[in-house]
Amino acid sequence: MTRVFDDDLNAGFATRAIHAGQRPEPLAGAIMTPVYLTSTYVQEGLGQNKGYEYARGKNPTREALERNVAALEGGRHGFAFGSGMGCLDSIMKLFRSGDHIVCGENVYGGSHRLMERIYGNLGLKVSFVDMRDIGNIERALTPATRMVYCETPTNPMMNLTDLAAVGDLTQAHGYVCVVDNTFATPYFQRPLQYGADIVLHSTTKYLNGHSDMVGGLLVTSREDLAEQLGFIQNAAGAVPGPMDCWLALRGIKTLPLRMRQHDANGRRIAEWLTRQRVATNVYYPGLPSHPQHELACRQMTGFGGMISVDLGDPARARRFVERTKIFALAESLGGVESLIGHPATMTHASVPAAMRQAMGLTDSLVRLSCGIEDTEDLIGDLEQAFGSSG
Ligand SMILES: Cc1ncc(COP(=O)(O)O)c(C=O)c1O
Repeated sequence: MTRVFDDDLNAGFATRAIHAGQRPEPLAGAIMTPVYLTSTYVQEGLGQNKGYEYARGKNPTREALERNVAALEGGRHGFAFGSGMGCLDSIMKLFRSGDHIVCGENVYGGSHRLMERIYGNLGLKVSFVDMRDIGNIERALTPATRMVYCETPTNPMMNLTDLAAVGDLTQAHGYVCVVDNTFATPYFQRPLQYGADIVLHSTTKYLNGHSDMVGGLLVTSREDLAEQLGFIQNAAGAVPGPMDCWLALRGIKTLPLRMRQHDANGRRIAEWLTRQRVATNVYYPGLPSHPQHELACRQMTGFGGMISVDLGDPARARRFVERTKIFALAESLGGVESLIGHPATMTHASVPAAMRQAMGLTDSLVRLSCGIEDTEDLIGDLEQAFGSSG
């Protein structure tokens, strides 16, 4: 399993983003980590090798990425997977039939689908609760509970979970606490500091930031979990290819710069949206009107570029997402380019309609992933789309 280089942890965040896990390559001194396109490694004799035997187990490009993201999260071990869902799938393999999980009700639709429709069928029980209130987690606990899984901010309702409170609760009872940190990124929020055991990322999103690969990453500082995750990573084999690891490594080098601009655009656009007549609700933790703004200021150092807005009428929402020009209608988020989506029919279509309605994920909700283009251009684009959507 990959362990972070300890001296990387002495550096500041931007320095880690550029250098952590990466050392000049020994043959020629290449400053960029090479893409190790190999499936196997020559052995000098039986049982004698350079620490690499077969690339499902280890690949130097992948190791660099694993060390890099582990250092950004302030953790000890990183595990890269072929997607964010590959990460969650590997976490679920830590448990067995009869075990119980408490999960946030408003997680990414695919996380809900994997837990319910695949692991539910294999005998794991999952309770989905509103994690804005820690009491709901406490009330859902059973003697069989093994994991508390939360996403904060949530996709797409932008609800928060109090990380310190959930960290205290899970540590007191010995539950595995997993936090999906995809939306905030370690630039704005570091769940391990609050007692989380595992941080999950879809590197497809902000970490890579350029919408040109799909990947996932887990970080933990717990040796027992690292042993198990390393075993699962190799045994189940949902590993990413080296080219995708290299793209993510390159993307991460500019993470701090990009996040600052996503955040600047997010704040301006959210505030502008609150002044639009047709926007009945704007969900953005950076707005003082967000019910959990005070918690957001406590556990996050910025709020990023994700905004959800309810347009009060499903037909208007449909027209709106089809009329923006810079905001492209597409699944995914977190890239340098702005995207717009309709969660009820796109990212969260697999969540039962009644559950969507209960959490405010209406058919008139639109989700924006604000990229790093000029703020005025983005606002101009939304303005013209509002103008022609009625
Ligand atoms: C918050 C969150 N977690 C996990 C995932 C899944 O990641 P991937 O698409 O890389 O499997 C997504 C995808 O949209 C997401 O938004």
